[in-house]
Amino acid sequence: MIEWSNKYSVGVSVIDEEHKGFIDIINKVITARQRNYSQGEVEEVLSELVKFAREHFKTEEDYMSKFQYPDYLLHYNEHLNFSLHMIIYNNQVINGEYKIMDELYSYLQEWLIHHIQKTDKKYTKCFNKNGLR
Ligand SMILES: [Fe+2]
Repeated sequence: MIEWSNKYSVGVSVIDEEHKGFIDIINKVITARQRNYSQGEVEEVLSELVKFAREHFKTEEDYMSKFQYPDYLLHYNEHLNFSLHMIIYNNQVINGEYKIMDELYSYLQEWLIHHIQKTDKKYTKCFNKNGLR
């Protein structure tokens, strides 16, 4: 299980709160892959991830655009890539190939390390400078 710690913080509390929700979803994946999960469980977790992406990416993108963050486009592309991955996983599951929890786990883990801990942290200075903490 993944526990929230300061190393995941992007220095903006409203975004940290949303990232905590993301870690909760990863933990569901971790628990599920340890047992014989059903197709319904995979569908549920995927729909949570799609909802998370829709709401959370909007939070970040709205601030980036409001504060005229220079790397907006690069960041937006990574978000788009995440959403595309969720569509691909969804299609697999709909076609009955639902044993994807291991693959999904690797992808989310990678997202936590390479997006949240790297790409997201790059906007901290800009957001803080604009009064968001
Ligand atoms: Fe992001």
